[in-house]
Amino acid sequence: MPKINIGLSEEQRHGVIELLNRDLADLYLLLIKTKKYHWDVIGPQFRTLHELWEEHYNALTISIDETAERVRQLGGYPLGTAAGFIEYGSLKEHPNDLPSASEMVARLVQDHEQVIRNLREDIDKCGEQFHDEGTADFLTAKMEEHEEMAWMLRSFLEGESLDPSGRRVGDETMPAVNA
Ligand SMILES: [Fe+2]
Repeated sequence: MPKINIGLSEEQRHGVIELLNRDLADLYLLLIKTKKYHWDVIGPQFRTLHELWEEHYNALTISIDETAERVRQLGGYPLGTAAGFIEYGSLKEHPNDLPSASEMVARLVQDHEQVIRNLREDIDKCGEQFHDEGTADFLTAKMEEHEEMAWMLRSFLEGESLDPSGRRVGDETMPAVNA
């Protein structure tokens, strides 16, 4: 078998493969959770959330495939069992539970935020510890996708009123829009 000679040590490559597999596990768990809520959601926001979650799990399916294939590009093998995803993932499942639509949204925001925090750490490790700028760049694009998905979900939980200066009522942390 030809040796992989792309300027990374064995240790660096294995470090990156492990980190990608952990991210892969979380993406799979997030896919399952998003799909379950797509099925279970009820209430006035049904159609919007049902369709948004379909978009999200389609995006996650692509992302999962790209992450698994990046593991192969680096000479590793991606996780590919449900047991492996649970063992290596950091997201928690909520079996036997039928939450309200807003609770579903809140839980998925937390999950996306967890994934964003993990990815941010992994990007740093890829650059500083493993000198793999390619994977750092790959994961940066993934992090931005999750930031967008988290924003879309978070927006369901936020108020809509603006005060006369353009500041969102109840949000003192942000500068006034018209300032
Ligand atoms: Fe569906």
